Amino acid sequence: MIIETAQFIVSNTDHSKCPPPIKPEFAFIGRSNVGKSSLINMITGKKDLAMTSSKPGKTQLINHFEINANWYLVDLPGYGYARVSKVKRAKFDKMITGYISMRKNLVCTFVLLDSRIPIQKMDIEFLEWLGLNELPFAIVLTKYDKLSQSELSKNLNTIKATLLEDWAELPPIFITSSEKKRGAEDILKFIQENKQFFKIQ
Ligand code: GTP
Ligand code: MG
Repeated sequence: MIIETAQFIVSNTDHSKCPPPIKPEFAFIGRSNVGKSSLINMITGKKDLAMTSSKPGKTQLINHFEINANWYLVDLPGYGYARVSKVKRAKFDKMITGYISMRKNLVCTFVLLDSRIPIQKMDIEFLEWLGLNELPFAIVLTKYDKLSQSELSKNLNTIKATLLEDWAELPPIFITSSEKKRGAEDILKFIQENKQFFKIQ
């Protein structure tokens, strides 16, 4: 799929205020600082579309971007960001789970994992929550530019083994680097194939 247009539409704290759910939507979620906003910029080829930061906790709202005027890409806050108060963290987590579970046009959630480290407890719990709620997801490994080929394949095998402890089958797994601009085509192909399953309810 070629990205012809990509524009910021709106930021929200609540799924009920998001744009009307009449176009297929795909969201990026994952721990703070994993590279969600950077991946949106890399995929759309617009380096300043989503705001990024080397400090965790940058994205604090549900951000809608409209792509090619016919589908949405959504940047979410990181889950479990530790350096905010318990109350604020609970609010973020509620915003995220409320959005993902209630958003009718959300075709698939991409769960981003850092390719350099094993899957964290928080990621496992989040994937379990998606499973319990029968919400479709795919995995995206980020920042693979920081690894050698052999480290990447070792880490990929560990991540697959961890997933298979909980899941009967592996979900789609995409390997990306926003730094090196790698992995966008496969994700866009997946989106292209899956957005046709969206039907207005
Ligand atoms: P929050 O909004 O805080 O939840 O973070 P985020 O997941 O949106 O992460 P963001 O895209 O802001 O990136 C966090 C940091 O990781 C930034 O310093 C990015 O430059 C860096 N980063 C993101 N993707 C990559 C990548 O593929 N490779 C490398 N080396 N760094 C990356
Ligand atoms: Mg962000």
